[in-house]
Amino acid sequence: MRVILSTFNKGGVGKTTLAVHLAGALAEDPFQRVLLVDCVDQYDSVNFMSGDSPEGKLKTLNTKYPNVSVVWNPERESLRKIIGQSQYDSVVLDLNSPAKDTVKAIVNAQPTGVFLPINRQALALGRLKDTLALVAAMAEHTGYIIPVVIVPLGSDIDSVNNALEDCRDSIGSLTVKLSDPIAFDPEHFENSLTNGRFVWEYQGCEYVKPLLQSSLSSI
Ligand SMILES: Nc1ncnc2c1ncn2[C@@H]1O[C@H](COP(=O)(O)OP(=O)(O)OP(=O)(O)O)[C@@H](O)[C@H]1O
Ligand SMILES: [Mg+2]
Repeated sequence: MRVILSTFNKGGVGKTTLAVHLAGALAEDPFQRVLLVDCVDQYDSVNFMSGDSPEGKLKTLNTKYPNVSVVWNPERESLRKIIGQSQYDSVVLDLNSPAKDTVKAIVNAQPTGVFLPINRQALALGRLKDTLALVAAMAEHTGYIIPVVIVPLGSDIDSVNNALEDCRDSIGSLTVKLSDPIAFDPEHFENSLTNGRFVWEYQGCEYVKPLLQSSLSSI
């Protein structure tokens, strides 16, 4: 089972946007059973996928996509507890802070990859270093090599690259890749989240799906 975290040590940087689209990109393969785990009080990922509020904590809901389920896990229970006897090929977690104990509580399975969104928000880049340091601590704790993919969501790619250069000593043995950038597009991205539609359904944004699929297959 593949376990993907979408996280960042800062609010409003695009974690939910990235989590739902990663789940959608994985679910393009009809044989993939995908579970999106929303670990945030605000349950934006549950809303996006089901078009509704959660019926309660840890209640797995079907979505309009036949191979995607969603579950609200604000207490950050372990994956084993959430999944029970169900079988999934991929699990994507929308997680609002990668604090060490939180991640440990959720990911007692080996995480396949950590995806870090960075949108245009002014303070996002300033928090890259401590986000990477936390992921590095998590990798050290588990003893696994955890690939990290930074996904620029409308942010300036040169600035992201520079910020990444400044982080080299905090990343330990992490492998950090920078994905191709997703363009700044407030209208379609805002509409996507509000309407619960993948952004690649809007004209001009079709490229987002293969871009994320390629990032997923690179880890
Ligand atoms: N490529 C993009 N272009 C423009 N805006 C974008 C892009 N990607 C994401 N955004 C915007 O960034 C904002 C924050 O996104 P999102 O809600 O996914 O962040 P978050 O990290 O989940 O926030 P929170 O901490 O509140 O859960 C949204 O308004 C979204 O539309
Ligand atoms: Mg969110």
